[in-house]
Amino acid sequence: MQNRRATITAVGGYVPEDKLTNFDLEKMVETNDEWIRSRTGIEERRILKGEGKGSSDMAVPAVQEILRKKNIDPAEIDCLICATVTPDMVFPATANIICDKIGATNAWGYDMSAACSGFLFALTTGAMYIESGRFKKVIVVGVDKMSSIVDYTDRATCIIFGDGAGAVLLEATEDQSIGVKDSILKSDGSGRQYLHMKAGGSLKPASAETVLNKEHFAYQEGQAVFKFAVKGMADVSAELLERNGLAGEDIAWLVPHQANLRIIDATANRMGLDKEKVMINIQKYGNTTAATLPLCLWDWESQLKKGDNIVLAAFGGGFTWGATLLTWGYDSKK
Ligand code: COA
Repeated sequence: MQNRRATITAVGGYVPEDKLTNFDLEKMVETNDEWIRSRTGIEERRILKGEGKGSSDMAVPAVQEILRKKNIDPAEIDCLICATVTPDMVFPATANIICDKIGATNAWGYDMSAACSGFLFALTTGAMYIESGRFKKVIVVGVDKMSSIVDYTDRATCIIFGDGAGAVLLEATEDQSIGVKDSILKSDGSGRQYLHMKAGGSLKPASAETVLNKEHFAYQEGQAVFKFAVKGMADVSAELLERNGLAGEDIAWLVPHQANLRIIDATANRMGLDKEKVMINIQKYGNTTAATLPLCLWDWESQLKKGDNIVLAAFGGGFTWGATLLTWGYDSKK
């Protein structure tokens, strides 16, 4: 196929049933619903409860939804990339565990570690595999069980994060009017001091002391992250529009990482977009890290129309950030 392009042909998602509301958090830490809603836009999050459940247990139903919708045999999947910072285990990759659980016996895969930008980085990578012609069906998953690395006595972080999973299927198209068209991806490791997990890696392996010091939880300096996120996400989104000769009015939807409503608003303003064109579900899921973008696509899938220009924008630990322009390829009903 000449001039092959990668296009999303299906979306799946999963959020756990259990909710953790702002009012629940009021009973756990010194905070209140009004503060959380006005500073972040979050009202509640979903939490994966129960012993022996990891990120793969949310990713599996998300991917299975895609297989069901498209009537695909799991053996047809060529590759599965799983973006996550909360893998089931440090190794093997959660991608391998998902493939085993769904019966994707012919797929190879790996985990992508890029925090909240993970899905965007994995989507771009997966699209290149399709464009190259080497692979026909690539699944990209974004999943995080943030509740496994959040300290529920730390009000600075526990109000933000939630659990969830989303996935898309990428396939090839000859139709040049649709598909993944352009991406700007960035990373800057000097930002690692503001958002990271202190122990559990090779630098500081787990010990009784690291557990005692709560060093296996997400550490965040909120204000520094906020400043970088506002600038980073808005800059790349505006640059992406400019280099593709597009203005806000040409974009049907902005799919922003759901970290903070104020960061989302700043990005939309910079792109010249009306609020009605911005996908926002932070109020019900919080920040699900790698899952925010596919969960937006999942929630809005039934409203998307063939030909819609969509910008996905993300920002996360690393620092990592970026934006992707794609044109939606199908009309769908959920
Ligand atoms: N409830 C009530 N008060 C809180 C609070 C909470 N959960 N957390 C902090 N506060 C207090 C602080 O102690 C501070 O009080 P003070 O003025 O008396 O010192 C005040 O509220 C303001 O704190 P600050 O940290 O400046 O708040 P903020 O407006 O920066 O909001 C975040 C905090 C975390 C919501 C915000 O910084 C943020 O969203 N950062 C980006 C996070 C992010 O996007 N992370 C994911 C990246 S992918």
